[in-house]
Amino acid sequence: MAYRHFGRSGDIWKHLPLAQILHIERPATYIETNAAYATYQLEHTPELEYGVFRLMAHRTELPQIAASRYVHLLTAFNHGDALRTYPGSAVQALALLGEWAGRMVFYDLDPDAVASLERYIEVKGKDHLATVRCEDSIDAAWAMIDTLGPSAFIHFDPYLVLQPGPSGRSYLDCFIKAAAGGVRAALWYGFMTRPEQKRIRAALIAALKEARVPSTKVHAMELHLARLGEVLPPFNPGIAGCGLAVANLRGSSIDAMEVLGRECEALYRGARYADRFEADQVFAPWFVNRPR
Ligand SMILES: C[S@@+](CC[C@H](N)C(=O)[O-])C[C@H]1O[C@@H](n2cnc3c(N)ncnc32)[C@H](O)[C@@H]1O
Repeated sequence: MAYRHFGRSGDIWKHLPLAQILHIERPATYIETNAAYATYQLEHTPELEYGVFRLMAHRTELPQIAASRYVHLLTAFNHGDALRTYPGSAVQALALLGEWAGRMVFYDLDPDAVASLERYIEVKGKDHLATVRCEDSIDAAWAMIDTLGPSAFIHFDPYLVLQPGPSGRSYLDCFIKAAAGGVRAALWYGFMTRPEQKRIRAALIAALKEARVPSTKVHAMELHLARLGEVLPPFNPGIAGCGLAVANLRGSSIDAMEVLGRECEALYRGARYADRFEADQVFAPWFVNRPR
């Protein structure tokens, strides 16, 4: 299996807010450009202890996290027992939206990931609702955005958001197009150092400006190591920090993101990675412009 970042801290500041957002937004059409695998088996590695196991162990001290759709989903998925199986984002979306979405499309380039999702969808009897495509999703998403209206939601999660595909476009370009076109969207991005964080922030701001997207339509919030530095950290939990940029969402979704982000900061207060490294995280709602 190529994808190994499931359940790590980067997934916390992705799946926790996203599950809540999807529950609030209830899109009729859901597109995911980088779906990866259906499910994953969890082991007690340092990365996972710092990720999903930490969240589940501390959830009773954190009321919003405890009541979140994400925790509800993880608990239901494991039948209330100890966590063994982690659902990927596509399976989470199927569980959250399967009752009311009319159409779901998942993309990935990895044939094994696509096969695992196809199997899952077939076993769950969701073939009428969901399709999986093994193709480059940058151009596919770029073209599809023109056909989507405000009832759709696109989740972009490629990791390398600025890297251009064969046509020269990036996932950031697709996110901006969705934002400008009134389509609801979420873009997750990761970074290992301050310079990388600054580069992505600057690219997002420049692209919004160039496309003349009103700043009130887009919000971006990050969770990152308090000791994020100019060079790589002395340990690697998978990612040193990550952000979720969202477009055209309801105010209640933005409120939910902020509340959960603050609790994530509390979740990591005093945290140590592998019992050794100081590994507090800070919540940074760095691009939040509410309509007046
Ligand atoms: C960060 S992982 C996705 C994780 C998943 N969304 C989750 O949260 O459980 C990124 C995935 O994007 C896929 N990918 C990368 N570039 C792609 C492209 N151009 N088109 C489609 N899939 C791509 C990779 O194969 C990988 O499975």
